[in-house]
Amino acid sequence: MDTPTYAKGLEGVIAAESKICKIDGEQGKLYYYGHPLAELAASCTFEEVTYLLLYGKLPTTDELNAFSARMRAGRALSEPVLQMIREFPADSHPMELLQSVISYLSGYVEHKIHHSPHCNCRDTLHQVAQVTSVIAAYHRMQNGEAYVPPRDDLSHGANFLYMLRGEEPDDREGKIMDKCFVIHAEHSFNASTFTARVVASTMSTCYSSISAAIGALYGSLHGGANERVMQMVDQIGSTEKVKEFVEKKLERKEKVMGMGHRVYRAKDPRAVVMEAFLDEMSDKTGNRTYYDILKGVETTFRAKMEVKGKPIYPNVDFFSGAVYRLLGIPRALYTPIFAAARAAGWLAHILEQREDNRIFRPRALYVGEVDLPVPPRAQR
Ligand SMILES: CC(C)(COP(=O)(O)OP(=O)(O)OC[C@H]1O[C@@H](n2cnc3c(N)ncnc32)[C@H](O)[C@@H]1OP(=O)(O)O)[C@@H](O)C(=O)NCCC(=O)NCCS
Repeated sequence: MDTPTYAKGLEGVIAAESKICKIDGEQGKLYYYGHPLAELAASCTFEEVTYLLLYGKLPTTDELNAFSARMRAGRALSEPVLQMIREFPADSHPMELLQSVISYLSGYVEHKIHHSPHCNCRDTLHQVAQVTSVIAAYHRMQNGEAYVPPRDDLSHGANFLYMLRGEEPDDREGKIMDKCFVIHAEHSFNASTFTARVVASTMSTCYSSISAAIGALYGSLHGGANERVMQMVDQIGSTEKVKEFVEKKLERKEKVMGMGHRVYRAKDPRAVVMEAFLDEMSDKTGNRTYYDILKGVETTFRAKMEVKGKPIYPNVDFFSGAVYRLLGIPRALYTPIFAAARAAGWLAHILEQREDNRIFRPRALYVGEVDLPVPPRAQR
């Protein structure tokens, strides 16, 4: 019998073949179905990228129009879902609400999982279309405001800001939000995507797979780094305090949030796009404080780490929180926004898993005892 290998956290283990996403960590490149992210972010909408992820090819104009119409029709929240959002315990995290809503939605669709390998997730698109609507409705209800129904003449990003604010964003804000979704749509076998695939491998529904993935993303080791970056920016407060802050962090051997990545050994290509958005939003709003503080942190941190022979670059979370804040989005919604975008990638992986399925069933390295006696209760 083969000696089983053990890799804690499955580090370095290849768990499946996939054509969806390639990360070239050395070169700092990311591809969705072979298309470089930088080019997708420059010229595609989130709906177009969602189509790419679900069908494995970029859509023609007709295909995109039909797909967008379906996705936009899927955005509206039904009364039972609105009621659920209204009645959800007020002090819950929006990720807990999202996870519950996605499970709940399952009861409202006819899913043919037991008869077809694909169920109907390419048709309903609820799992992608409704996430932004739930986030916006949650935010408004928390603030005592009424639910704003979606508009089917707006892109996914512009519609999200519209539903959140109750008024239409300008063209650039809508486009930047839409592209933030493109940037976060997919990132290979991270913990939440792997979770989605594990659940899908049991031939469960895509709703339960995505709900499980949301649970994985909720954990502080996965989603939420951009929230902590903005906490850091607030703590620093002004550019003059950057150097001292970074030096103290490194002296105390603490992590500087938003810097470094397990896979990238060059600048995260998503951070390159996000930085440009932050620069633009800073000019647009006349508030360059966040940009200046972050660039100060990056320069100081990188210089210190280069001396130690550790070239460490900003990751996507370094700039994204500041972009969201300048778009008027509160911090509690940053991780839910990540889920709204990543739902497209999760769905792509669920579909791919089903095409050539084998249930995930790793083994544990048993380190406990055996053959222990079971004495009567009174003698334990
Ligand atoms: C993502 C992360 C866990 C990767 O860690 P990693 O795999 O250990 O990264 P590396 O192998 O490149 O680290 C090399 C060295 O730089 C240090 N380092 C890496 N990122 C650092 C950071 N943000 N701040 C301070 N030191 C850091 C590591 O501790 C390690 O030090 P050592 O050689 O003394 O052990 C880490 O960079 C981190 O915690 N970053 C901040 C949190 C964050 O932004 N997370 C979101 C990721 S998308």
